[in-house]
This record gives sequence, structure tokens and C-alpha cells, in this order.
Amino acid sequence: MLALNDFSFEFAGRYLYRNARWHIKPNEKIGLVGLNGTGKSTLLRLISGEYELREGMMSKANNLKIGFLNQDLLSVEYKESVRDVVLSGREDLVQLDLDIQRLLKEIETDYDERRLNQLGEAQELFGQLGGYDWQAQGEKILEGLGFPTEWLGKPLMNLSGGWRMRAILGRLLLMAPDLLLLDEPTNHLDLPTIQWLENYLNEYQGTYVIVSHDPLFLDRTVNRVVEVAHQQLFHYKGNFTSYLEEKEERDALMQRQFENQQDFIKQQMKFIQRFRAKASKAAAVQSRVKQLDKIERIELKDKENRDFDIKFNIRVKPGKVVAELRNLHKSYGDLRILQGASGQILRGDKIALIGANGKGKSTLLRMVVGTEPCEGEVELGWNVEASFFAQHQLEALNLKNDLINEIGTVSADYNDKELRTVLGCFLFTGDEVFKKVKVLSGGEKSRLALAKTLITQSNFLLLDEPTNHLDMFSASVLAESLNDYAGSLLFVSHDRTFISRVANKIWWIENGIIKEYPGTYDEYNEWMSTRVVEEPSLRPEVKAEVVKTSPEKKEAQGNKGISKNKIQEWERKMERLEGDIKSIDQTLNDITVQMQDEKISSDAEALLSLVEVHRVKQLERDALQIELDSIMELWVDAQ
Ligand SMILES: Nc1ncnc2c1ncn2[C@@H]1O[C@H](COP(=O)(O)OP(=O)(O)OP(=O)(O)O)[C@@H](O)[C@H]1O
Ligand SMILES: [Mg+2]
Repeated sequence: MLALNDFSFEFAGRYLYRNARWHIKPNEKIGLVGLNGTGKSTLLRLISGEYELREGMMSKANNLKIGFLNQDLLSVEYKESVRDVVLSGREDLVQLDLDIQRLLKEIETDYDERRLNQLGEAQELFGQLGGYDWQAQGEKILEGLGFPTEWLGKPLMNLSGGWRMRAILGRLLLMAPDLLLLDEPTNHLDLPTIQWLENYLNEYQGTYVIVSHDPLFLDRTVNRVVEVAHQQLFHYKGNFTSYLEEKEERDALMQRQFENQQDFIKQQMKFIQRFRAKASKAAAVQSRVKQLDKIERIELKDKENRDFDIKFNIRVKPGKVVAELRNLHKSYGDLRILQGASGQILRGDKIALIGANGKGKSTLLRMVVGTEPCEGEVELGWNVEASFFAQHQLEALNLKNDLINEIGTVSADYNDKELRTVLGCFLFTGDEVFKKVKVLSGGEKSRLALAKTLITQSNFLLLDEPTNHLDMFSASVLAESLNDYAGSLLFVSHDRTFISRVANKIWWIENGIIKEYPGTYDEYNEWMSTRVVEEPSLRPEVKAEVVKTSPEKKEAQGNKGISKNKIQEWERKMERLEGDIKSIDQTLNDITVQMQDEKISSDAEALLSLVEVHRVKQLERDALQIELDSIMELWVDAQ
């Protein structure tokens, strides 16, 4: 369907991928994964044609229709109504519908046979293309995405970022292109909608690529995984869980190969150092030196070369009661959000506000910080300093600034060195602090906005979906630091892992009032008994044993007077062993080459069996090498 061959791509000399390869075949359901900033969105932009590929080849099937959901909401500006935006996913039908309306109008005033025929043809085609089902289908998608019926006529640009994203997703789903590219589609969705999307994609007849940091979502929607890491693309067959298992296997194999090679190198070096000065061993030493030169060194790539360490300090300690909410009322038109809601936030509370979209969670956060007018009373406690992180903070970043200027806008209390330190904690190091906000990836923008929240040193943080856009690693570091945070926390999140790691209280809105469960998310779930906790199955680990002593060595021990025959026998044996080792090396090489073959690397079973053969061969080689070394030592001594 689409082939990218031997392609490289760079921004200002910094390569995201080098000589990478990707073939997308019909009906593949692909998860595109990788840490923040590795180049996932850029890759989708290359495929969709938004960026031009300058190094390498891309070939596409003729007339390949590509639909792309951009991660960056800033680029979305639609004046049309929600319904029209979604329906415009079928441009062919929009055009036919216009033609039909025009012809009908013309026939009304100016009847003629030709027009009537045209109308008949247009209507027939309209029917064939599914036109009579089109609007209903569009509305069904909108309903699934959670749009209230009364919103369908509203101009899309009046809606919040999250809802805009949903409508555009709806448009793409209706379009059903040959290749659907979705960049972090679940970022703005609540749980029921995520589940709806999972089901929708399961029924979806087509090829798609989804970028996501959500393991559960990926597990339910993809049958292949492509990972962007170390400037390469790694291809895996299976869902996200099997990708993680295989990746672990690969890393372990690499680690074993690395260790074996290091052992081998050490032995050779020892030998060389020991016998370097002996003229009688010159040839043997020389051959070792040559061998060492020839070896292709295995390099272990840093797994997570990221020292990401954030600490949320507080400037002053607040009173015991951080916020008191009394008798809050709020509605948007007919939509009643709060009706007499009350609640109390105490020092040390880490409260997760959970529940479906549209229940008013973000509204409640804004009410607490005082940016949303409401009826009732919100009283912040003694010495409380609140700081707010929200999705719109990302949109409020000044795209023209570079990072260091942008973070400097928060407070004049910090000098450049301190600002760099804060940025460093959020993984922006070296020259990166001069990057323009405009070019940051989704996750990088989130980290910057979080850094801005952090340097306020407030003792009360209100966070609206803080893990959106963050990769699993960053989300986990954030959870850890919020755990250690000495202040109080009220946060909205749909990220189940994150909530259970951070929250010590759960809030949700029911019938217009705030309900509280005074415990962790897991306890809450148990109490609600709506969730089955899955235990990961433990697999026994196979351990290999390496033969450590050679029979030859035992035989020779204590045998001082060595016959010429024996020495010749050793020499023959050494020669044979060297031959055997060489042939195993060849086999190992072949296996490594095979493993890089696309067919194999994307077939988990084939790959695993190769890994196993490789492991056994490597063990065999190790044993032979040990035998050879010990005979060689005897031989040298005898000489
Ligand atoms: N126009 C540009 N000029 C310079 N650097 C850029 C430009 N666009 C993107 N980058 C950088 O390229 C890297 C990859 O960006 P990209 O948006 O593809 O990452 P991503 O894998 O989608 O990350 P995330 O998971 O955070 O969305 C980032 O470090 C980003 O800052
Ligand atoms: Mg991205």
C-alpha cells in the first residue's frame, strides 16, 4: 500500500531516523509507539505528504486516500457546524447533494428533459454511494463520540479543543480512507468514548496507524507495532503486550550477545598481554590481534537514557483546610452541572476527579481557582497558593518564544542558570533550551507547560489531564513526583494507572453534587466492584549453563613431562576447534542477518525460534572457545 525505503529525516542536522524502512500493507492495524520527541508525528506528516521526504524513497499505491488526525489542535479552524464538518468527510456525497439540490431548484422554475435525466443519474449515483445512509451514519458517529444533539448545529470553532478534535475524528471515521492516520486520538476522550472508539476500530474495515501512549487502548486496537527508537523503526507483529514481551526478549538477547562478546574480548586481551613479549608466541598473538580487529563490536543502546527528575517544592506551608466549597451551582443553558455541591480539600489531599466528559470536571477546577464564575462560595484557606495546569495551557504557550524565554515568563525570581536547571529536570538539555516552542512535539509541549506550573512553587496544584501527550515513562516520573509533593492536589485524569498511583481520595460528580471516596483508586474500584484486576502471568525463566572446565585441562594437570605426540595432538585439536568456531561464527552471522529480514522481524514466532537457535549456538561457541583457550594455554606452557 505504501513503502518507505531507506529513508532518513532531520531537523537542523538532528536525525530522527536514518536509513529506516516501513512497508504498510492492506488491513494492517498498526500502533506507532516511542518516547516523546522520537518523531512519531513527524513520520505521519511525511506519510500524509505534509512534509517532504528529501532522503530516501516513498511509494504509494495509486489514488491512495489518506486521512490524518493531527495531534496539534492549534491548526484546526472550522467555521462550519459540527454536523457539517463530520458530513464533509464524504466530499463526493457533499458535491452530489449540492448538484441534486441545484437541479431540483432549476427544475422547479425551468423544467426540461435533460435536467430531469441529470437529476435521475445524480440521484442514482448518490444512492449507490450510500448517500441515503450518509447523514444517519454521520449522526451515529457523533452520538458515539458523545456529542449532545443540541450541539450538532453549533460552529465547530466555538467548541473546546477536545470537542473539536472529536468532530474531526468523526469526519475521518465517516470518510473511511484507505489509510487512516490517528495521532494520539484518545488524548481528549473520556473512558466511555475511548471504549466506543475501540469498538469502532475493531469493526473498521481498513488500514490504520495509531500513535498512542495508552497500552490498554493499543492492546485492543492493533495487530502490529512499529517502534521509533534510536533513529530506527522496529517492526513487531502482535498487539502491544506481545510487543513489550518481544522487546524485552530482544533486549535480553542483545545483552547476552554483548556480554559474550565482552568476555571473548577480555580473554583475547589477556592472552595478548600475557604473551606479547614471547617470540615463540608471536604468530598466535598476531592472530588474536587480527581476530579482535575483525570483530564487529556490539553496542548496547541506552535503554532509557533519560535522567528525568522533577520535584514539586512548595514555598509556604498552607493551613489545614486548603479549600472549602459551599453550595455551588452551575449550568450551561439547560445543562445543569452542579446543584448545591459542597466539598473540602485538606492539606495533603491528592484528589482525583473522575467521571465521563461533560460532567463538568474541568469546570469545577476552574471554579476552584476562580476563573469560572459560579453561584456559591469557594474559599481558599490560609496561605494557599494555587496553580493551574490545563489543556489550554498548551495552546496558550507563545509559539514564537524559545523554551528558556517561555519558562521565564512565569516569574522573574529565577536567573538563566536556574531556569536551565528546571528545564533540565524536564529533559530539555543543552542547546535544546533555545528550541522554539513552535517546533516542540506534543509531549514536549506538555512537559514545558508542566515545568511552568512547577516553578510557581505553589502549595495547591490543580491539574487538568496532566498525562495527555506524555509517554509512559514521563507519565510515570510525573506520578512519582506528585506522590512526593508536599502540597495538595486536585486533578482530572482518565489515565487509570496514573490515578491509582497518585490519588488518595476520589471525587466524582453525581446528580449535581460532589461525591467523595476517602481512599485510593484501587480501593474505590473494589468498593464499586466494577473492575477485574488482572495479574500478569509469570513465566519461568530458562537459564543456560556454560561448561566451565575442559577435560583436556584436567588430563594435563600434574603432567610435567609432555610428549611430542601430545603437543601435536593439541595442535590438531586447536586447529579443529578454530575451524569449528569459525563455522559457528558464520552461522551466528547468518542468523543475525535473518533476524533483520522484514519477514522474520515482523513474525514473532519465527523470530523467537531464531533467537533460541542463536542462543544455543552461542553457548556452543562459548564452550568451544573455553576449550580452545585452555588447550592453547597448555600448549604455550609446554613450549
Ligand atoms: N520544524 C521543526 N524544526 C526543528 N525541530 C522540530 C521541528 N518539528 C519537530 N521537531 C522536533 O523533532 C522531534 C520529533 O517531533 P515529533 O512531533 O515528531 O515527536 P513525537 O514522537 O510525535 O513526540 P510526542 O510523543 O511528544 O508527540 C522533537 O524533538 C521536535 O522538537
Ligand atoms: Mg507526536
